[in-house]
Amino acid sequence: MTVSVRGFRDIFEPEAFLFTALENAARRAFSLYGYEELRIPSVEMRELFVKSTGESTDIVEKEMYSFEDAGGRTLSLRPEGTPGVARAFIENGLAGQNARRKFFYQGSMFRAERPQAGRYREFEQIGVEYLGNPHPSADAETMLLLSRVLSEAGVKDFRAEINSLGCRSCRPAYHAALVDFLRSEKESLCDNCRRRAEKNPLRALDCKTDGALLAKKAPRQTLCLECKAHFEAVQELLSQSGLPFSVNNFLVRGLDYYTRTVFEFKSEALGAQDSLAAGGRYDSLIASMGGPETPAVGWAMGADRAVLLMPKQTPAGPQVFVISLGADKTAFLVLEDLRKSGLRADGANFSQSLRAQMRAADKSGAAFAVIIGENEAKEISAALKNLKTSEQEKIPFSRLAEVLRSKNP
Ligand code: HAM
Repeated sequence: MTVSVRGFRDIFEPEAFLFTALENAARRAFSLYGYEELRIPSVEMRELFVKSTGESTDIVEKEMYSFEDAGGRTLSLRPEGTPGVARAFIENGLAGQNARRKFFYQGSMFRAERPQAGRYREFEQIGVEYLGNPHPSADAETMLLLSRVLSEAGVKDFRAEINSLGCRSCRPAYHAALVDFLRSEKESLCDNCRRRAEKNPLRALDCKTDGALLAKKAPRQTLCLECKAHFEAVQELLSQSGLPFSVNNFLVRGLDYYTRTVFEFKSEALGAQDSLAAGGRYDSLIASMGGPETPAVGWAMGADRAVLLMPKQTPAGPQVFVISLGADKTAFLVLEDLRKSGLRADGANFSQSLRAQMRAADKSGAAFAVIIGENEAKEISAALKNLKTSEQEKIPFSRLAEVLRSKNP
């Protein structure tokens, strides 16, 4: 037997229904906030992620599904959406002076991480990217939008953490101070952090092994005046808009492109994989990819994690179930007519016994069964059975939908 690939899964109802409910909730919020949909490809040139997500990030170093296609191009399944959106923006000539666009996207992302609860190799992200607005209100807007998506979806149990990573002018000094600090701690660092200490020192603060301990002793970022004012303005807008948050000076992100604001929405209810959604500002990415200077901010939410926090919901089952006793063709046509009239209708395997079909009707959750035997077919009427009370009445086919509707199944 062929089995599924480790870390890739089948999602059945009612979970699949929750994904749809989440996507619909997100779309309601996106429309309120003026974000337009962008459908980006699942496959991109590998180089795109190397240059944007970052060469020394875990994602690019260890987690990408990359392969060579028949044309000899090295391609990757997208591990995140931001690089594709930035590429689409530049490639389609949308970038330019005063270009301001707000996009949302959703779809599968692929990362070859070690699978565990809440962590999959194919997972769904719903994300937004606000391009072309450096103002702190853009940062605050995206975070408020994220909170709105979650509340539309009925997710209550989350908290927001924010930080500022500074910009091109204040980051280098912090970078140097951190490298010095990590050198002094070299003996106690894990292999990963030792290797990364010089190239990507911020990541050491995010390390699962050393992070918590290092964060207690590491120097803190000193922001330049502009970054400080920007960060304070973001916080003020959030406070005044009623979004609770806390500042975590050691919140760093596993991707290289961030500048200034970074944030993470977490939930303890998720256990070890507590990051529900995350994002931040990336003012240099688009220019570094060959586009014009375009400040930007965005986030992505892990849909697989969000659905775990949503109130349970199940799709509406059939309202009526059709049973045939040797009148299969008539039963089939009546079933189809009920659907045409807008009722959710289903039927079992007509060649089964009455008992087996009745069991299927009970299992379906329908409130009524329509039973059609040879006599009923001749009389052009059906036995309508209330599956709760077992009451039964004879109804002409032509009135079935109307009678059912009046009973509000
Ligand atoms: P990220 O932090 O890598 O950011 O991922 C965002 C969210 O995707 C996480 O908070 C988590 O909920 C979900 N996620 C990540 N990996 C997995 C996994 N293996 N299984 C299940 N869920 C997962 C980004 O991807 C950035 N592109 C966000 C962004 C947009 N920044 C600016 N714009």
